[in-house]
Amino acid sequence: EKGPFKHFMLKEIYEQPQVMRQVLEGRVYKDHLLEQAFGVAAAEVFDQVKSVQLLACGTSYHAGMVARYWIEELAGIPCHVEVASEFRYRSVVIPQDTLLICLSQSGETADTLAALREVKGRVLSSLAICNVPGSSLVRETDLSLMTNAGPEIGVASTKAFTSQLVALMLTTLALARRHGLSSEQEAEIVQNLLALPEQMQDLLKLDSQIEEMSQAFAEKHHTLFLGRGSLYPVAMEGALKLKEISYIHAEAYPAGELKHGPLALVDKEMPVVAVAPKNSMLDKLKANLQEVRARGGELFVFSGDRQSIQQEEGISVISLPPVSRLMEPILYTLPLQLLSYHVAVIKGTDVDQPRNLAKSVTVE
Ligand code: F6R
Repeated sequence: EKGPFKHFMLKEIYEQPQVMRQVLEGRVYKDHLLEQAFGVAAAEVFDQVKSVQLLACGTSYHAGMVARYWIEELAGIPCHVEVASEFRYRSVVIPQDTLLICLSQSGETADTLAALREVKGRVLSSLAICNVPGSSLVRETDLSLMTNAGPEIGVASTKAFTSQLVALMLTTLALARRHGLSSEQEAEIVQNLLALPEQMQDLLKLDSQIEEMSQAFAEKHHTLFLGRGSLYPVAMEGALKLKEISYIHAEAYPAGELKHGPLALVDKEMPVVAVAPKNSMLDKLKANLQEVRARGGELFVFSGDRQSIQQEEGISVISLPPVSRLMEPILYTLPLQLLSYHVAVIKGTDVDQPRNLAKSVTVE
């Protein structure tokens, strides 16, 4: 039930600190990963993995895109990500000893299941990261890791996404510890994961500020979401949330692509949302944001650096507390979920049951 919340989506956004605890429970101990969580056969599989193929649809695909940054950086093995509906119908080349990871909240998405069936016989092993125990996906894969997010009622996926990200980071650790990740590095990442509930709680305090910001979007017809690095898929997820529930056209771009086309769209009628944590890409991103301002585009920045991006005419800033670099995609997702939620509420759409969409897409 919704309890004090007006919609399931809002309730599920607010459940995320607790969901973080649930997905970590029994999977980490003190400062390390407990890889038995993936099943008894998992260790032997992880020993042999030389590349990773991630498959998913929609929001789950965005989680996969984030994981690619983590897996290639920390495990140093090639990782490919593709939407299942494309992958299943093309001739794919699958490198030797590939771990296939299928991501799905429901475990019943037709394209993801079909893609799995298509290549199952050609991979080293298959792993489901899924929120529904006993679902088709879990039954048909060799290994599985449940995201333990609890039932997600809102059609727009929120807590399922952030719990998938944590599950993917755990998977990354399992692979990376076999490819040079030191136990100190692993301990640091585990500490960062364990800090998520508290950090999410802090982010939820930004809700009223974000609600205020959302006013600026209600009358607009188009928006652009920008991010760089692992925040690019976060921008994609932010754009998907906005279009799903507020019916405002939203597109995400890696900020470096702006001048290769989308800049032509920018004017004062096109709000531009940027996710801008304080990391090594911030200066690059800031230069991209200046390009937007120079064309009269109004900026809405979720910023991790109070000093370098300041509120001024045409730039609205919401400051986020400092977060560790690898956790940025998990944490910066929350304010974008809240933004789309509040825009939809202002527009008066059916937040939990957006038109034309189904929670589980069991047909192609
Ligand atoms: C977006 C959303 C969809 C699903 C997609 C895959 O908010 O919910 O894009 O993410 O249909 O569903 P699962 O994860 O159940 O395979």
